[in-house]
Amino acid sequence: ALERTFSIIKPDATNRNLTGAINAVFEKAGLRIVAQKRVRMTREQAETFYAVHKERPFFGELVEFMISAPVVVQVLEGENAVAKHREVMGATNPANAAEGTVRKLYALSVGENSVHGSDSLDNAKIEIAQFFSGNEIVG
Ligand code: CMP
Repeated sequence: ALERTFSIIKPDATNRNLTGAINAVFEKAGLRIVAQKRVRMTREQAETFYAVHKERPFFGELVEFMISAPVVVQVLEGENAVAKHREVMGATNPANAAEGTVRKLYALSVGENSVHGSDSLDNAKIEIAQFFSGNEIVG
């Protein structure tokens, strides 16, 4: 089915000027960028976004990283977009990521792993709504 998923190009990637290179991987995979903006996340936004991880030992480090530099938040649209996006991102830990995936190509570590993507269609809807209003998404 035609789906929309939520994507973040993280600080390690924006710092290294990789926004276009990562978008090229997404577009080549058939994902259409139907909304995109570069933002500096607030601490509150990052804590809310990653609230599911707040008991994890890496939560503090994760929030500090996500607010350390600009990110690019995106809505990607395509057939089976949630799964397709996860496939082209590769495994969370770049050491386990398949050849040709964004994380194999660009990620530095499990924390500085260049991209985030929604893990389900339900979460995609929730995450999109945290950063975009309906009129900012142009399909
Ligand atoms: P993401 O898909 O953005 O969702 C949660 C993030 O937590 C994940 O990507 C990783 O970047 C990060 N993460 C997971 N495990 C660790 C870890 N051990 N240390 C630091 N960050 C982590």
